Amino acid sequence: MNNSGRYKKSYKLWEKANKLLLNGVLTLSKSPLGIGYGTCPVFAEKAKGAYFWDSDGNRYIDYPLALGPIILGHAYDEVDKAVKKQMSKGILYSLSNNAEVELAELLCDIVPSAERVRFLKSGSEAMSAAVRIARAYTGKEIVAVCGYHGWHDWTIARTIKNAGVPKALNNLVFEFKYNDIESLIKIFDTNPGKVAAVILEPVGMYLPKENFLEEVALVAKKNNALLIFDEIITGFRLDLGGAQKYFSVTPDLSAFGKAMANGYPISAVVGKREIMNAVEEKVFISSTYGGELLSIAAAIKTIDILKKRKVNEYILSLGLKLKQGLNDAAKESGIDVMCEGMVHKTFLVFKEAAGVSEELLETVFRQECLVRGVFLGYGHFISFSHTPKDIDHSIAVASEVLGIIKNALKHGNVESLLKGKVAIDVLPKRY
Ligand SMILES: Cc1ncc(COP(=O)(O)O)c(C=O)c1O
Repeated sequence: MNNSGRYKKSYKLWEKANKLLLNGVLTLSKSPLGIGYGTCPVFAEKAKGAYFWDSDGNRYIDYPLALGPIILGHAYDEVDKAVKKQMSKGILYSLSNNAEVELAELLCDIVPSAERVRFLKSGSEAMSAAVRIARAYTGKEIVAVCGYHGWHDWTIARTIKNAGVPKALNNLVFEFKYNDIESLIKIFDTNPGKVAAVILEPVGMYLPKENFLEEVALVAKKNNALLIFDEIITGFRLDLGGAQKYFSVTPDLSAFGKAMANGYPISAVVGKREIMNAVEEKVFISSTYGGELLSIAAAIKTIDILKKRKVNEYILSLGLKLKQGLNDAAKESGIDVMCEGMVHKTFLVFKEAAGVSEELLETVFRQECLVRGVFLGYGHFISFSHTPKDIDHSIAVASEVLGIIKNALKHGNVESLLKGKVAIDVLPKRY
């Protein structure tokens, strides 16, 4: 499929990757199966600013932005310069380095819940550390969870991809629904005195209904459970101080990652001093690469730029422009599709139309945008390198593609537009 066309090299590489790499990819979100096998490029070759080039040399305006980390732009010169400067002095020492303290101080300065900090490498690690701290602090084991938080045992237990995770953990993880406070209260009611933490992304696809976050904080407090915000996506994007600053709801613990260092691998678990002090002697969190200095240098420089240049204002205003433009284009086309989400990350939500599934509509939409050099329709982020012109162009492309789909819907031949397979859901759904 597509072996001879626009993505010839990508699919040739994919054949080999699929044999050698588990699942063919390093994160399922990059799997062509989840984007639409045969309808999309698989391999990227280089990236700069708001753009990347696939292995066949096609250029794209990048909206997934490596699933969120790229906040300033790909290969951002000032960050890379700071990294190179550190590189010339060594990247990992036998002792600690002051840059770790400097970065901790920066985080404590900007994040309301941060009084003590530990750096790790991935979002999954930071979230796992937060859960361990909460269990250690409260002496309880059950966690009430909403949404995706990474791949470690504690979070994957009650999902459809839980092979290899001890079944015993099923009794320690319970899912509640976003914007449904009763579903959280029910977990406390059925497990009295046993819930260590309430864990959620402060905002995901939908806005918190009035007072939802405040109510969650109250319910957690009333039951002596800690409130953990997963700010892996919202952190540094929605506000420099995270969603907790934006919504003025301060959790006990929170986890940051992704945009913190413009793509260099680093994450952080942060929390209130009283909690961190209480568990310090009894909890074990360790990482050889936790003090890797290229990422720490990148984080210090990234946060410095975010602070000085009003990056949040800029990316949120372009996010709004994109969201409004896509919704206007959708309205004009008459197709039942909405751009949802807060403007730090938006999503296109298609609805079934004339017997054509939402998955088919979405895959065809993305396929045709990609052919026109725009990677839309797969979780949209904005970087400081995107320009209003990039956004205008992307909206024009989306509008043209929606027009094509509308026409195909009219003639009952949407399926004939599909050049590969319909995208499938690759993320582990919780039950
Ligand atoms: C909200 C959220 N939490 C946690 C994670 C896990 O982060 P990582 O993939 O860096 O382990 C992700 C990853 O996409 C995420 O979106």
